[in-house]
Amino acid sequence: MGQFVRICGKVDLPAEGHVTEIQTATVTLCLANVGSEISALNNVCPHRQGPLGQGMIEERHVIYPWHAWAFDVKTGAYAHQPQAVLKIYPVKVLGEDVLADLD
Ligand code: FES
Repeated sequence: MGQFVRICGKVDLPAEGHVTEIQTATVTLCLANVGSEISALNNVCPHRQGPLGQGMIEERHVIYPWHAWAFDVKTGAYAHQPQAVLKIYPVKVLGEDVLADLD
C-alpha cells in the first residue's frame, strides 16, 4: 500500500447519490457518494475514454454519460464485460481533508 495524499477538501465532495471529477497531480478521479460512503475511481472509461465523473449514480453503480456503461463504485467492475474494470483508489476523509492512496 502506498501513501495517502490530500486530493481535495471535504467541501468538494459530491452530495449523496452524485459524482464529481477531481484532478490530482497524476490522475483524474471520479468521486462517488453512495450511501454517504465515498469511492474514488479512475475517471477514464475503458470504452471510449469518456468522463465517469460526469455520469450519474444508479443504486451502487456509476453510469457513464456517453454510452451508459455501469461500473460498481466499490469494485470498479462492469458486469457485462468482466475485463473492463476501473481502478479503485482507497480514500478516506480526515477532518476537512479528503485523502487517497494513488499508487
Ligand atoms: S465512453 Fe464510457 S460508455 Fe462509452
